[in-house]
Amino acid sequence: MKYNPKVNEQLARLPGFSQQHPAIPEHLSQGSLQLMYELQQALCEISGFPALTLQPSAGAQGEFAGMLMIHAWHQAQGNRRHKVLIPDTAHGTNPASAALCGYQVVPIASDGVLSVAAVAAAMDEDVAALMVTNPNTLGLFEAHIREICTLVHERGGLVYCDGANLNALLGVCRPADLGIDVMHFNLHKTFATPHGGGGPGAGPVGVSAALEPFLPLPVVVQEQGVYRLDCDRPFSIGRLRTFASQFGILVRAYAYVLTMGAAGLKKATQLAVLNANYIRARLEAAYHLPYVQRSLHEVVFSDAHLPNNCHTLDVAKRLLDYGYHPPTIYFPLVVQGALMIEPTETESRQVLDEFCDAMLAIAEEAEHHPELLHQAPVNARTRRLDETLAARKPRLKWQP
Ligand SMILES: Cc1ncc(COP(=O)(O)O)c(C=O)c1O
Repeated sequence: MKYNPKVNEQLARLPGFSQQHPAIPEHLSQGSLQLMYELQQALCEISGFPALTLQPSAGAQGEFAGMLMIHAWHQAQGNRRHKVLIPDTAHGTNPASAALCGYQVVPIASDGVLSVAAVAAAMDEDVAALMVTNPNTLGLFEAHIREICTLVHERGGLVYCDGANLNALLGVCRPADLGIDVMHFNLHKTFATPHGGGGPGAGPVGVSAALEPFLPLPVVVQEQGVYRLDCDRPFSIGRLRTFASQFGILVRAYAYVLTMGAAGLKKATQLAVLNANYIRARLEAAYHLPYVQRSLHEVVFSDAHLPNNCHTLDVAKRLLDYGYHPPTIYFPLVVQGALMIEPTETESRQVLDEFCDAMLAIAEEAEHHPELLHQAPVNARTRRLDETLAARKPRLKWQP
């Protein structure tokens, strides 16, 4: 997860950026088009892809765009493949995006990471693509990804990478070099922009040269120092949204890339991985670690070792009493009672220690005073909610 520096917000609010009309003619918006073009270039350099679209308004829409391009590529080859392989660790948006493109989703069981044998067993001539997250939602690097990409290609498929976890790879490895054909970026998880939550956000998509003709319209191009929106692309999958992009989000990501520089981005990745592993080392004696492979930017514990009928939800609610916004719980689904901790790279050792102390104190309470967990939160304004009712019939007005 990311810290969103204030300077990005200030730059996105500059009147020249924030007050321009999205339908402004190209000759009056050369600065904005240049920013988009240079962000495209930067993301291509970081990921290794030769071409990229900035259009999608969220990671999920990026997935949808990527799968549409895969579909268009197969159609252009005369292929009628109708299945997409997705590992059991995937984020829910992955099968949803594939299904929205008309694909039948085939789940692949993984043992933390995907094996070549599991993909080989499922990879027949009806499979259009494998959709894989790297590092996956357990925070584990897909160690066999190169062999898996080779296998999928040999059998006529393409590989989509959910790049939401790219914060663990910046400056260390480029997904395109691993054999990936298409990947979306979650700017809000890697490039310090606010989370889209389905929009407004941005989920750019990088593609291989073979998929470049299918990019959505328009694509920002530069010819002899002049920038323009290219709409003359006969094989394009078309438009995903009314205007070119969610521009304010792009300004923030561009500012982040330039202020960090190549060395700074790599350092952010190294610190994200270090912080997650520090938390892992401090908590693994107290909380069950279902997958013991080395983790990258996030670590997933479970509630399997908690005594006295204490569960993940109780830990999350008790964290509120200690003043912490709880981490993601009950995801990924392959871990029963999952507690996924993804510390921001900017957190200091002191902050990480305070959080770990709270988690260790809660584990002790589970042993000796389980009622403190069962009753939590006691220090928050509201106690436990009926979460289904809150989601279905939210009360959106503050009432004194
Ligand atoms: C692994 C993974 N894939 C996809 C998404 C979807 O991204 P968005 O919320 O921008 O649609 C997320 C969201 O955080 C994610 O963590």
